[in-house]
Amino acid sequence: MNNRSTLISIAFLLIALAAPVLHGQAPATLNVEVSRPKTAVSPTLYGLMTEEINYSYDGGLYAELVRNRTFRSDWTGILNWFVIEKGTASAKVSVDSKEGPSEALRNSAKLEVKKSDANSPAGILNEGYWGIAVRANTRYTGSLFAKSDSEGPLPLRIALVADQSGQVLAKTSVSVTGSGWKEYKFEMQSGDAAASSENHLELTIDRPATLWLQLVSLFPPTYHGRPNGNRIDIMEKLAAMRPAFLRFPGGNYLEGSRIETRFDWKRMIGPLVDRPTHPTTWSYHSSDGMGLLEFLEWCEDLHMQPLLGIYAGYSLGGQVVKPGPDLEPYVQEGLEEIEYVTGGNGTKWGAVRARDGHSAPFALRYVEIGNEDNFDRAGTYDGRYAQFYKAIKAKYPDLQVIATMPVKGTTPDVVDDHYYKREQGMFDEARHYDDTDRNGPKIFVGEWATREGTPTPNFGAALGDAAFLTGLERNSDVVVMAAYAPLFVNVNPGAMQWSSDLIGYDALNSYGSPSYYAQVMFASCVGDHTLDSSISGTGDRFFYSVTASPDKLCVKLVNASSTGLPVTISLNGLGAGTHTVRIDTLKANTTWATNTIAHPDRIVPVRSTASVKGERVQHVMPGYAIQTLEIDLK
Ligand code: AHR
Repeated sequence: MNNRSTLISIAFLLIALAAPVLHGQAPATLNVEVSRPKTAVSPTLYGLMTEEINYSYDGGLYAELVRNRTFRSDWTGILNWFVIEKGTASAKVSVDSKEGPSEALRNSAKLEVKKSDANSPAGILNEGYWGIAVRANTRYTGSLFAKSDSEGPLPLRIALVADQSGQVLAKTSVSVTGSGWKEYKFEMQSGDAAASSENHLELTIDRPATLWLQLVSLFPPTYHGRPNGNRIDIMEKLAAMRPAFLRFPGGNYLEGSRIETRFDWKRMIGPLVDRPTHPTTWSYHSSDGMGLLEFLEWCEDLHMQPLLGIYAGYSLGGQVVKPGPDLEPYVQEGLEEIEYVTGGNGTKWGAVRARDGHSAPFALRYVEIGNEDNFDRAGTYDGRYAQFYKAIKAKYPDLQVIATMPVKGTTPDVVDDHYYKREQGMFDEARHYDDTDRNGPKIFVGEWATREGTPTPNFGAALGDAAFLTGLERNSDVVVMAAYAPLFVNVNPGAMQWSSDLIGYDALNSYGSPSYYAQVMFASCVGDHTLDSSISGTGDRFFYSVTASPDKLCVKLVNASSTGLPVTISLNGLGAGTHTVRIDTLKANTTWATNTIAHPDRIVPVRSTASVKGERVQHVMPGYAIQTLEIDLK
């Protein structure tokens, strides 16, 4: 939270005995009955939804710096890798599809160096994900698999090099020995260079030889220092959202375009060398470094509960597995996945998780069966959901089983609703759950976003989002969880498949959209119940929510009109004492205003503090603004 000014508070919050009357119209009034609780607010309301889209993990959260570390190729050659021939060196690189270090990775890069010496090294370079970020005095940790035809040890030099100057920013070497595959680990440290992403990785030798390479990996420091871990800047942004859960691994990424390209979790656990990688629904290939255990550790790092999406026999291209015997292997696969997450070390899959480095089971309360199965034209979801539901409840009766659409024949514990609309559409949806049957299934809003602005949403979208969230808070007795989607976008050209994404980044920096900051503000003050309240005189572009817990009152105001509005806030029952109020304001001059990677801080919350004395507050709500007022009750 940005604390730019505390003085601003005086302009936004004035204590007065009477509200002014504007141009003869009735003054706007928000009446709050401080001692009249209305409905419960779910403690898990705010969470995250994530999948591999827009280079969310590869080239995003997952901190790997080497792009295409497994040497996939097309007709142009090995993707993202290029040959180096310095001085008089002569070399060529190709894919050797018969040589690889594992069953999963059966190919490698074959570097044939015909001519090379100390002044004329030869090798290959990797361009990274739109560059490689190098920062001053930073330790980089890497590994690679290699073998060579060299008679003696073959020194392989490894360096991070600045694209423009050719300056070596960090370097080390490993000695490749023998004709069999071995893993080599290394570290290198940068000096005082200024932070930049205009860098690449070079691997070179200085003598004629043939060298085979696979799984070339390089990591900067990661969040909580996890090996194979996540980018620190992005994790810190997520932590500020105080998410209660993480819905993973999708989204369409769970389904895959075809059954074979679904999120096949068993192929995404264990050592990286045993992960074959796979094509995603979103037109690019996944390294699968972000596998099932990495998702769970991400949850652990941010104290989120996992909300596990289980593949349910429908893939985006239209393939469907019929309920009944055909579906049974997938049901078993789902049960085993749950066991991997929750099982003790004495269970088959719990033991595999322990082997993978996490002996403690993870707590799991929610599983979701599929994703957006309303797209299944064969209409088989009723049967598929029922089959999964029965099998899961038989083995794990305490698990809440989420359906991706309303189903017949079985009553789901929770139903997942998705919303992608323009600003006006989200204003309308702010009232969506006001009349929802409280005796039916609970609601999970598993994906939602106001889609205005690209690559990240603009301030108009943030207004739509905040308006929508007031409706979710008001109805959080039935809406138990909600998550914006998509969460991430790499802003480089060609990286985005879906616009209006919450957090943007390149190789070096990341930034929050106005919608991101609206969510940070909303999640930073949520009571455990709503209060009886009413509003009048504000028009239809004004939204609010009031929640409270024993120690605080959280008032959220959204003014989507361009003009400011005086509002009398009556906090009936608050008493005559003085209370501190913290006001966070997110504001812009137009709905099209936004943050970008070059201008990340144009629209950020501004914190101010003031006092409330007595029960009536004359507040001026600015135009195009979102505010949270956190009032201390003790
Ligand atoms: O969030 C982008 C996509 O939108 C998700 O993958 C899918 O579930 C939805 O259609």
